[in-house]
Amino acid sequence: MAHGTLRVAVVGLGFGAEFVPIYLDHPDVASVVVCDANPQRLARVTERFRVQEACLQLDEVIGSPRIDAVHLVSGIPDHAGQAIAVLRAGKHCACTVPMATTIDDLHRIVAAQRESGRTYMMMETAVYTRQFLFAQDLHQRGELGRLQFLRGAHYQDMECWPPYWAGLPPMWYATHAVGPLLALAGTRAKRVQCLGSGEMRQELRQQYGNPWPVETALFQLAVPGLCAEVTRTLFHCARPYMESFTVYGEDGCYEWQLEGEPPMLFRASPVTPGQTRRHAAERPQTPDRADLLPAPIGRYTRRFVYGNDAQHLSFEQGGGHHGSHPHLVHEFVRSIVEARAPRIDSVTAANWTAAGICAHQSAMADGHAVEVPAFG
Ligand SMILES: NC(=O)c1ccc[n+]([C@@H]2O[C@H](COP(=O)([O-])OP(=O)(O)OC[C@H]3O[C@@H](n4cnc5c(N)ncnc54)[C@H](O)[C@@H]3O)[C@@H](O)[C@H]2O)c1
Repeated sequence: MAHGTLRVAVVGLGFGAEFVPIYLDHPDVASVVVCDANPQRLARVTERFRVQEACLQLDEVIGSPRIDAVHLVSGIPDHAGQAIAVLRAGKHCACTVPMATTIDDLHRIVAAQRESGRTYMMMETAVYTRQFLFAQDLHQRGELGRLQFLRGAHYQDMECWPPYWAGLPPMWYATHAVGPLLALAGTRAKRVQCLGSGEMRQELRQQYGNPWPVETALFQLAVPGLCAEVTRTLFHCARPYMESFTVYGEDGCYEWQLEGEPPMLFRASPVTPGQTRRHAAERPQTPDRADLLPAPIGRYTRRFVYGNDAQHLSFEQGGGHHGSHPHLVHEFVRSIVEARAPRIDSVTAANWTAAGICAHQSAMADGHAVEVPAFG
């Protein structure tokens, strides 16, 4: 039973519906309003979770003095404008990925967040999966040693998803692959060279002028001597869904390549002059991290909110994004309650998103290097 003081609204109830019961059960949340311009979606979620208050337009949420924080789960082209409107209305803002699709909009959101003094958090699922949390612990305990290289890939086919996906440049939606790498390396991307690959059918080239179903990039990181490689597919590629990441350390390498299978962890004995190194391989079971959450929302690391009758496409992949949803809600809520920056604050979100935007710029310029701007 919620008994906190924070009054939250969730806007966009396709994927967004997944978060509604988590807010309802979070101990710091007093009330939840749901909002969607689609009356059927609105009615379904309102009934399903017995939500007390519902509305059809974001403007109603923005104008309401009884809402403190807004979680946006609208379509990609709406994220930037809606996030700025929410922040300028003096409300805290969580937004699904990507933060925006232009560098100018990233600057505008960071500025709106600073001027408002409110919280902005990008709700990047890939840095709260149990596989990522396990890798992060290994790295923080020093078991991987000095990082030498990182690699990420996000394969997904977006045929017949909502119209704004048609022909989207793959690297505009790269944060699931970029985020884990930059989070582990604790830095940002400084420079990128990216190539487009494959052949996109004509009709998919119209909306964004993007000819590439696949983009693959090399990022120079802002840490001397470290780089990362990222590949994204969005169309015309038979590889099933996967948000894969690999981190190569001097003492240990962690590879997560296949959905539904445990990662690989390789370890090597210390470098000793004149001796070959011994290697060992294991497949660690990545534990559920409900222990990091308040008890009332711990079960959402495993539980699907939807039944089979009304399943959102994204839940068919990643088993609800590998337990990440309640962690995201908890971090957003607690950062507000504790008056601190969230883990993926506006600057971090802009740095992660800019990496992909600049990668697509490079792919459109035949692989010429593009400097990735810094936001903080
Ligand atoms: N792993 C992840 O982080 C992940 C997974 C899936 C989707 N997403 C992101 O979530 C977003 C939503 O995905 P989806 O598949 O549910 O999209 P969708 O287009 O099906 O749903 C968006 C909903 O937002 C509503 N909406 C938009 N503007 C509104 C407004 N002004 N007022 C009221 N309602 C409004 C629409 O009516 C629609 O129902 C996408 O942008 C995608 O980038 C992220």
